[in-house]
Amino acid sequence: MTDTKSAKLILDNKSFDLPILQPTIGPEVVDIRKLYGQADIFTYDPGFTSTASCDSTITYIDGEKGELWYRGYPIEQLAKQSHYLEVCYLLLYGELPDQAQLEDFENRVTRHTMVHEQMNNFFRGFRRDAHPMATMVGVVGAMSAFYHDSTDIADPMQREIASIRLIAKLPTIAAMAYKYSVGQPFVYPSNELDYASNFLNMCFSVPAEKYHVDPALARAMDRIFTLHADHEQNASTSTVRLAGSSGANPFACIAAGIACLWGPAHGGANQAALEMLQQIGTVDQIPEYIRRAKDKDDPFRLMGFGHRVYKNFDPRAKVMKESADEVLDLLGIEDNETLKVAKELERIALEDDYFVEKKLYPNVDFYSGIILSAMGFPTSMFTPIFALSRTVGWIAQWKEMIADPQNKIGRPRQLYVGSDKRDYVAVSKR
Ligand code: SDX
Repeated sequence: MTDTKSAKLILDNKSFDLPILQPTIGPEVVDIRKLYGQADIFTYDPGFTSTASCDSTITYIDGEKGELWYRGYPIEQLAKQSHYLEVCYLLLYGELPDQAQLEDFENRVTRHTMVHEQMNNFFRGFRRDAHPMATMVGVVGAMSAFYHDSTDIADPMQREIASIRLIAKLPTIAAMAYKYSVGQPFVYPSNELDYASNFLNMCFSVPAEKYHVDPALARAMDRIFTLHADHEQNASTSTVRLAGSSGANPFACIAAGIACLWGPAHGGANQAALEMLQQIGTVDQIPEYIRRAKDKDDPFRLMGFGHRVYKNFDPRAKVMKESADEVLDLLGIEDNETLKVAKELERIALEDDYFVEKKLYPNVDFYSGIILSAMGFPTSMFTPIFALSRTVGWIAQWKEMIADPQNKIGRPRQLYVGSDKRDYVAVSKR
């Protein structure tokens, strides 16, 4: 980063020069790292709407233009021309692999897909109706109790092994969470299947009969993984970075990211969006829900709409919408009432002054649930699929932070508005 310009802050007739750092592309940043030491003042930005928490080379988003690049490659091109494990390589190592590098990476991931057999016991401790995200948070966190040989974050080789283990085992753990919730036996990973086909097989095959993975569905699944792989410094990625800044092991950091992603304002929105579409039920009910979404006194929000960064459209939603049409067509699901409600809701919302003024467009979660539901996943599995897709992004960001010589523990301050100093009063005198 270079600083060729600076910003001047005048406080009580004192002037402070704050360097302005230059990006490759996107907004410049005002470097305030020395501000508190020089001026004894904090900046204030709850929700971090105007704050850059780090510098990164991984993902670029332009909210106005609706652009999303992984290592400079537009998401539209990667979703259509690449595949998830190649995108994982790109996010982790910064460049697209050649054929030999790709094959080696895919072999390394494939040979780490099984989990320690004793981890099966963790699932038995949960109720069968536990939300799969609850089991995933628990089981992924417990990985640090099994893979001690890849928890020393100071050792680059252990960081690499932990990264491969997490990318390889998250689909297995997500599929186990699903199987446990439906009372079916766990299905072991199958090394002759590709990543997406393996996940579908672990979720939907049963010992009693042969299961054939439809290559077109596997392609759609793989595309969903790619569309969710990384997204700059979103809430769950920031959680992973903050946990990692304390030196916590990678399994604990990813478990923290899964916990944060679960929230309905974040990754939990794909489940909430489909449930909302099903609650609306039919197109004629849409106006009532639009009214409620606009009512300040009504906590209802249109799930799957709006985004902290995208104020035009979410490029992932556009690809997802095309995929939804393809998958429903492939499965012969013509009169999908939910898709009709989704498309009509999108059309109305994009014409409504409230949504236009607040720049609320469908985000990545709006259409993903329609595809996943058509594939046979219950809504409770939508966020676990988001979590397994995003694991590579969390890891890439975590590795970037650990390797950064500037890396230090994240420790924000506050604007204290509580009680002034006062003396203790004995209970007999209160
Ligand atoms: C993801 O950050 C990422 O990159 C996240 C993500 C990723 O890949 O990691 O992209 C994944 O989390 C996508 C977002 C999924 N969440 C939802 O679909 C839930 C519904 N959306 C909202 O909760 C909301 O839009 C957020 C949380 C996504 C963004 O909220 P912001 O940027 O903090 O904006 P805000 O809540 O301050 O809203 C601004 C205004 C408010 O009105 P005013 O107070 O200004 O009058 O817009 C309104 C809000 O009331 N608003 C909505 C709305 N979203 C915002 N009104 C109705 N329906 C909505 N969905």
